[in-house]
Amino acid sequence: MPISTPDSGPTPPPGCPAHSAGGPAPVGPESLYGPEFAANPSAVYARLRAYGPVAPVEISPGVHASLVTSYATALEIMRNTETFPRDPRRWEALNDGTVPMDSPVVPMMMYRPNPMYTDGEEHERYRGAVSDTLNRLNPHALRTYVEESADLLIDLFGPEGQAELLSEYCARLPLLVFNQLFGCPPELSEKLVKGMASLLDASEDAVEANAVLVETLLALITLKRTEPGADITSWLLAHPARLNDEEMISQLILLTGAGVEPVKNLICNALRLLLSDDRFGGDLSGGTMPVDEALDEALWTDPPIANYATHFPVRDVTIGGHRVAKGSPVLISMAAANNDPQLVSDRRGNRAHLAFGAGPHACPAKDPARIIASTAVEKLLDRVPDIELTVDPGQLQWRPGPFHRALAALPVRFPPVAAKYDATGVTATDQNPGGSAWNSSRDPSTSALSSSTPKGATSTEKERGSANAVQRPWWNSLIAWWRGR
Ligand code: HEM
Repeated sequence: MPISTPDSGPTPPPGCPAHSAGGPAPVGPESLYGPEFAANPSAVYARLRAYGPVAPVEISPGVHASLVTSYATALEIMRNTETFPRDPRRWEALNDGTVPMDSPVVPMMMYRPNPMYTDGEEHERYRGAVSDTLNRLNPHALRTYVEESADLLIDLFGPEGQAELLSEYCARLPLLVFNQLFGCPPELSEKLVKGMASLLDASEDAVEANAVLVETLLALITLKRTEPGADITSWLLAHPARLNDEEMISQLILLTGAGVEPVKNLICNALRLLLSDDRFGGDLSGGTMPVDEALDEALWTDPPIANYATHFPVRDVTIGGHRVAKGSPVLISMAAANNDPQLVSDRRGNRAHLAFGAGPHACPAKDPARIIASTAVEKLLDRVPDIELTVDPGQLQWRPGPFHRALAALPVRFPPVAAKYDATGVTATDQNPGGSAWNSSRDPSTSALSSSTPKGATSTEKERGSANAVQRPWWNSLIAWWRGR
């Protein structure tokens, strides 16, 4: 779709048959917030397509933007950061006060010194530090973190025979994993996990929680400057980019925000498919391996980051007949682009979706994100194989919000399963030594650090070696907190 500088004619009227893709005529900017959008975003995207590849939307009351719904145009814009840079300091409506600083979308869109909101050399510096650091993660060790975290959480609800998986599993698991990846010592762990959780919840005490999070991260950074370990915090500190404390905090908060929330939603959205869609779950004991397929389908159909990748054009441009003013936000709809009717290819085994973005800002953590999500899903279905939804899939609610595709709850029931660790965090028994249909094709070396794993590949090296007698005092305090004590 050609992108041009001020064109010869006016933007066509909404619904103009000469310009529309044939859908019903839109009557003005569609709202991307509120329960109606959350309940049926596909219907909104279908109406928006009547404008062409880009359409006007309101992402919060009074906050206007352009949304790209075409796959081809989305790719073109994400790759063209010369015309469509990311730095929100160009956002004219924010600069002139039309959009107030306390608008709920501003925290997700405002400038911060990290790769997400920068361009050119500034972007390269931050991006280099973050992606070099993520590349040092050992996939086998990461899988082990996830398995251990999953075991702990399943132990909490397994004996109950029922759970609300979103809050009790999908939301907590990435917090535990990131806590370990950051190399957090026991005395800071609880504060860090609580701070991360409140920040992501955007809860009423978010300001206070943010202060606690920043204070905890500063303490962690100070500790790692003197006692570096094999963890993300130490690797970022040691990077030649020489990040200062403020920049360190910004990268760690970005990693938390960009990592924890979408991973949580991917796990949840894939579980929903596995538990409700015959193409994947059906007979869960049937010996199939649908986890990867369910993850791919969730990434195509319900990408966790549904509308984001905000760009601020350097000049007025016209895209497929839609005029976009200089310095106004252009959002990519990963969800609409992935489901663009003009895409005809078979999705099976095809990972060309835009769920992880594209171009210079594409997600640098695709592989670890997938490891966390697939291990979490497999582990749950391994230990709790006869799991089922307690409500009709059509009754599941989605959380409102313009940026994410996130379930509000995922209630399930199952025959109770025994805990694997006792109250002191010591392994009681291996509940499922032989594996099951869900993990039977897995490489056995992935369930523990393989002998080829380099020493110091992760910060928890010290804990290993006695796989069935692992003490986790800080986990115990988190368990108490999660149980409301
Ligand atoms: C299922 C999980 C994930 C999804 C769907 C996802 C998706 C995305 C998308 C769409 C972008 C591009 C955003 C934009 O252009 O504005 C992005 C960027 C990013 N993601 Fe992820 N992500 C996931 C997991 C993670 C994890 C686990 C981490 C960190 C450990 C992470 C770190 C980042 C960072 C640092 C960026 C910014 C890169 C840049 O601007 O250069 N993501 N992610």
